[in-house]
Amino acid sequence: MNKSIISDWKPEYADNFSQVSLLLHHRLSETGLFTKERLSKLVDQYPSEKYNITTMGYDVENPLWREGTKEGFSGAEVIDAIERGRMWLNMRAVETVDPEYGKLLNKIFDEFEGYVPGFETFKRKMGILVSSPKVQVFYHADVPGQSLWQVEGKKRVYVYPNEAPYLKPESLESIILGETEEEIPYERSFDDGAQVYDLKPGEMVHWPLNCPHRVENEDCLNISVTTEHWTSDLRKQFAVNYANGVLRRKFGVSEPSQSTNKWSVYPKAAMAVGWRKLKLDKKNQVVRKVDFKVDPKSKTGIVDIDAYVKS
Ligand SMILES: [Fe+2]
Repeated sequence: MNKSIISDWKPEYADNFSQVSLLLHHRLSETGLFTKERLSKLVDQYPSEKYNITTMGYDVENPLWREGTKEGFSGAEVIDAIERGRMWLNMRAVETVDPEYGKLLNKIFDEFEGYVPGFETFKRKMGILVSSPKVQVFYHADVPGQSLWQVEGKKRVYVYPNEAPYLKPESLESIILGETEEEIPYERSFDDGAQVYDLKPGEMVHWPLNCPHRVENEDCLNISVTTEHWTSDLRKQFAVNYANGVLRRKFGVSEPSQSTNKWSVYPKAAMAVGWRKLKLDKKNQVVRKVDFKVDPKSKTGIVDIDAYVKS
């Protein structure tokens, strides 16, 4: 595709890119990479260590979710089960599974780097989410820079400020240290402070680093894409928050600074690297178990199985 991926970029967006949430329009569907037929083929070959298939509870304030497996079924059967059931399939790091998506991912970020002076990205990643009608993704925050692209179906996306009470520093540290799987405390009243987007096919949202968000699908199958990236600034913030998490937990420091000026960041970056190498915090890490499998014949699209730990 020779056309730009973003169809409505304006030069003034560069002024506060990644500082405020931004809704843009895109041409991902014109690539042909996100049709049901193309995705069925992709699902067929998707390695088990790179996807999550997840079903979830109904209470937005009480996040409950379960991990499953799609083994034994074709991509078309899995997508059919998702369309009738209550789950999402997240194919992570799709650029490592099929190079066509890798080319697209690079085109996307090369384009943004052309638009925004000084924006230089690395560790770019793409995920594809195929999700059932009416499912939700609970309130959570992600560690890298994030964008959500809608290709098919509609969903409501709530984006919250990346500061207390929406995101307390200790919650962010827990995510970064791997103590929690991205979920953080949520109260309904937070919605008053959210920016709400009813995302339609051809729209995408990019929000500032670590902004908590949650998603509710409308009553239709959704095909969405997530992109992730790092920049040197994001890496500095990660190092500071990682080290702060260690200082707070292991050394009793109650209010460590989130400053990323060089006198704060260099020792903390060294500490983050050292601590990760020691793996002293391994025992607190979340263990994921699989306890259902996709079953296209069942009414809900899934069936329970004996739980096992996913490698
Ligand atoms: Fe997310």
